[in-house]
Amino acid sequence: MFNPETFVEEKVRELAENVDGKAIIACSGGVDSTVAAKIVEMAIHENLLVVFVDTGFMRKNEAKNVEEVFKRAGFNYRIVDASDEFLNELEGVSEPEEKRKKIGAKFIEVFERAAKDFGAEYLVQGTIAPDWIESGGGLRDTIKSHHNVGGLPAKMNLKLVEPLRDLYKDEVRKLARYLGIETAERQPFPGPGLAIRVLGPITRERVDMAREANAIVEEEIEKYYDFESRPWQYFAVLLPVRSVGVHGDKRAYGYTVVVRMVESLDGMSATYFRAEHELLDRIANRITREIKEINRVVYDITNKPPGTIEWE
Ligand code: XMP
Repeated sequence: MFNPETFVEEKVRELAENVDGKAIIACSGGVDSTVAAKIVEMAIHENLLVVFVDTGFMRKNEAKNVEEVFKRAGFNYRIVDASDEFLNELEGVSEPEEKRKKIGAKFIEVFERAAKDFGAEYLVQGTIAPDWIESGGGLRDTIKSHHNVGGLPAKMNLKLVEPLRDLYKDEVRKLARYLGIETAERQPFPGPGLAIRVLGPITRERVDMAREANAIVEEEIEKYYDFESRPWQYFAVLLPVRSVGVHGDKRAYGYTVVVRMVESLDGMSATYFRAEHELLDRIANRITREIKEINRVVYDITNKPPGTIEWE
């Protein structure tokens, strides 16, 4: 049985003994990186710089919310707005692995600048077991090149610290609750963000559509179910598919949004969530009413396997 108290006590001691210089972490505000940051911060205090890189593929209000979390956690932090740089780099790119690799490379570039400025010798990462198992570090073939293992340590001349490497998601959530980190209440969000929830070519407009659709899905689900009854993960995916519909009494030729809700323990396998039709109605109505380019909403009933949770 995983005991958060013992884990924290032992890790903090081990880190305090071994990390003897400045360290830096790229923190998305997600549960993994925030918990990793908190544990290292408990060991080396202001010698850890917590950096949030705004890639422009973040959820609505993300940078603002993350900054609040950092403040409350008492971190020494920096928010870097690199959204223009990322969007320029990704404009027009469709292929999923190309998106992931370009985002990974740009991320390294932006983050390396911050690391140099701070004089960091160590790199902290919130890698958890499913990340490296699915990135080809284990027995399985590479399914997706996960953003948080996508080359950061290999290309940077920094010593790697991965305090959560052997843990699964449910254990990290227990740690977050134990440490009083608010993101424990938040669902997982992939490193490449909305870029992999916009299928087909990336454009600013399409990323904005995906951001709005994701916000609606999150809001409606969080209003409908209390925390205990919510799905493990829920989001919207914008498809490049257009279809004919009616808007008012006019013909429309708009985009399609997929709503995805899954139950899972650790993201390694998943079943689709048996959502109430009332909830699906509210989501579909709001998306088609509030995002004028979208006239069709479909619900994904695929389990993992054979599907993955994200579409890319
Ligand atoms: P898949 O789509 O592989 O997703 O079934 C499993 C879980 O991992 C999340 N995910 C990622 N998380 N970096 C991350 O930190 C990534 O590149 C990435 N890709 C997928 C996904 O949201 C789900 O919770």
